[in-house]
Amino acid sequence: MSDDSRPSLSGSRTAAVIPAAGRGVRLGPGAPKALRALNGTPMLIHAVRAMAASRAVSLVVVVAPPDGAAEVKTLLDAHALPERTDFLVVPGGDSRQESVKYGLDALPPGIDIVLVHDAARPLVPVDTVDAVIEAVREGAPAVVPALPLADTVKEVEPAAVAGAPEPVVATPERARLRAVQTPQGFDRATLVRAHETVTDNVTDDASMVEQLGLRVVVVPGHEEAFKVTRPLDLVLAEAVLARRRLNDGF
Ligand code: CTP
Ligand code: MG
Repeated sequence: MSDDSRPSLSGSRTAAVIPAAGRGVRLGPGAPKALRALNGTPMLIHAVRAMAASRAVSLVVVVAPPDGAAEVKTLLDAHALPERTDFLVVPGGDSRQESVKYGLDALPPGIDIVLVHDAARPLVPVDTVDAVIEAVREGAPAVVPALPLADTVKEVEPAAVAGAPEPVVATPERARLRAVQTPQGFDRATLVRAHETVTDNVTDDASMVEQLGLRVVVVPGHEEAFKVTRPLDLVLAEAVLARRRLNDGF
């Protein structure tokens, strides 16, 4: 293939869709999870900054809680974000999948690479974001950052009653398993097609592309890209921020 027939790398435009419409039930009572503060700044703002930190990202689409779009707009206006990055806020849906779909629907023409990034992963380092974008640019239709597992994983027959003993069905070989994170990166047309075609409930976007029979690849994730899910994760996130402050000399 000659250089001319390749999609122009510098010409590709990347947007990040940030689903932030969840309640955060597992985090316990309080504001919607994305609006909860980490060291005084809402988790969502950390997540937006993490995407905008990549020079390749020219647009961030935030998918807000359905009744909170105005509040989220005000929040974004109130926080300093890079000049080079545009922002859009759209209301989300009942499931993460639906929220991502609304974010995709809001993308303008001219965007050809899309990242989907959980607001609940506020601390992903920019190097991870850039590695995902780079792998899409190199031709993978879907790219997932992921880490090897620390724990062995067992497949069980889930008990009808919570807490009851559950029979083990299988133990997959741990060395072949990866725990997936976000941002997941996609060729835009592929992700849009996946959302139009796949209707089952999924827990990540790349699995929809897998269902289309297309190649999905994993690149190294990062331990700081963990998802804030339960109360202890807030403690860890604030500790990571404190460590960064120390290292940055603030
Ligand atoms: N999300 C969304 N719309 C939904 C549900 C989830 O945009 N209807 C987003 C969340 O805001 C979060 C991401 O998807 O950034 C990952 O979901 P998860 O960590 O499960 O967040 P919540 O659904 O808010 O948490 P929980 O499942 O504990 O209620
Ligand atoms: Mg959820």
